[in-house]
Amino acid sequence: MPTIIAPSILAADFANLQKDIQLINDSDAQWVHFDVMDGVFVPNISFGFPLLQAVKRNTSKFIDVHLMIVNPEKYINEFVAKGADGISVHYEGNLHIHSVLQQIKNSGAQAGLALNPHTPVSVVKEILHLVDTLLIMSVNPGFGGQKFIPETVSKVSEAKKLIQEANTSTLIQVDGGVNIENCIALKHAGADVLVAGSAVFKAANPKGYIADLLNA
Ligand code: DX5
Ligand code: ZN
Repeated sequence: MPTIIAPSILAADFANLQKDIQLINDSDAQWVHFDVMDGVFVPNISFGFPLLQAVKRNTSKFIDVHLMIVNPEKYINEFVAKGADGISVHYEGNLHIHSVLQQIKNSGAQAGLALNPHTPVSVVKEILHLVDTLLIMSVNPGFGGQKFIPETVSKVSEAKKLIQEANTSTLIQVDGGVNIENCIALKHAGADVLVAGSAVFKAANPKGYIADLLNA
């Protein structure tokens, strides 16, 4: 399966959002990554429902919502109603992650489980059958434009092994500091979905950069 590229609109120009969404529409990217931050789970606040609706109105790409919020179970159904095709919730801080993943699946969206850099991949073992996308953070969540944590590559290999052993169709997603330099190692390790924000939107030719990430 070719790698899925998911540009993160956190790095887009919000004063020209339609232009940046159109750029994604015209590109080889299959997903749009949508980062929701609440200022509690992470030390930053981003955006929520109104922006999601605006993105949805302007694209038919798969909208991949990454919730960096406390109590995500309160908002899952509304995110799906407003256009999320997939929702990722964090393992950390969620006492009932099994039930939250079930809730996402019951809502009709694809269920994603996100792991912070300090969280071992092994925690996913007992719930892997509920996880459509395993999101491995390659920076500490909260901000775009951070430096890629190189230990992520071995976490991806480990996740790949677990998924093969469990024989699930879980996709491995990597998020944070992804660029043309590290994408080859990530693909070799087994990454299926690459999120890229700054690298794409700061590129002189973002569409070309997306194609390069895909074809590297
Ligand atoms: C970080 C977010 C990422 C971010 C990636 O908390 O989850 O999705 O937008 O941005 P870059 O590619 O700039 O690291
Ligand atoms: Zn993200």
